[in-house]
Amino acid sequence: VTVDIRDARPDDAAELAELLGQLGYPAEADAVGRRLERLGASDVDRLLVAEAGGRIVGLVGVHVSHSLEYDRDAAKLSALVVDEGRRGTGVGRALVAAAEAEARARDCELLFLTTAERRTGAHTFYRALGFEETGRRFAKVLD
Ligand SMILES: CC(C)(COP(=O)(O)OP(=O)(O)OC[C@H]1O[C@@H](n2cnc3c(N)ncnc32)[C@H](O)[C@@H]1OP(=O)(O)O)[C@@H](O)C(=O)NCCC(=O)NCCS
Repeated sequence: VTVDIRDARPDDAAELAELLGQLGYPAEADAVGRRLERLGASDVDRLLVAEAGGRIVGLVGVHVSHSLEYDRDAAKLSALVVDEGRRGTGVGRALVAAAEAEARARDCELLFLTTAERRTGAHTFYRALGFEETGRRFAKVLD
């Protein structure tokens, strides 16, 4: 089955909600639809999906920001997830390649991401794709 990478659309909300659940961020389709609307209105965000056989089998977000540390912009990957039944078949690699192409097209000088310590499989994946581990993430939930 061929895998197509395309921009997410509002009617993808239910399938993206399922994938976000697999990533550990469960959400209702309606809520995901509202997030898609906000991201769709942003000039500095792009949400890409992988489609195979009429189903969405993966997702990645790219966010571009200005930087004080670098002359050019930096791109951050987010929400990378491949459907459980399709992992290990190259979908993640294809999604990250598309995100990297987007970052290059926007003249970014850095592509980076944060990942939880527990996601050891993802760490191996990122290394296989040429990413270097360069830091730690600290987070504070604001309520
Ligand atoms: C991490 C993830 C996105 C990788 O996507 P994928 O489609 O399964 O990965 P690919 O098939 O494209 O693998 C690319 C390479 O990474 C390596 N790799 C991928 N997943 C791996 C794992 N769990 N353990 C070890 N190596 C792995 C493979 O060896 C592969 O190399 P190859 O092409 O030479 O065989 C996917 O496994 C996933 O959704 N995991 C759960 C969610 C998650 O952790 N997301 C990342 C959040 S930061």
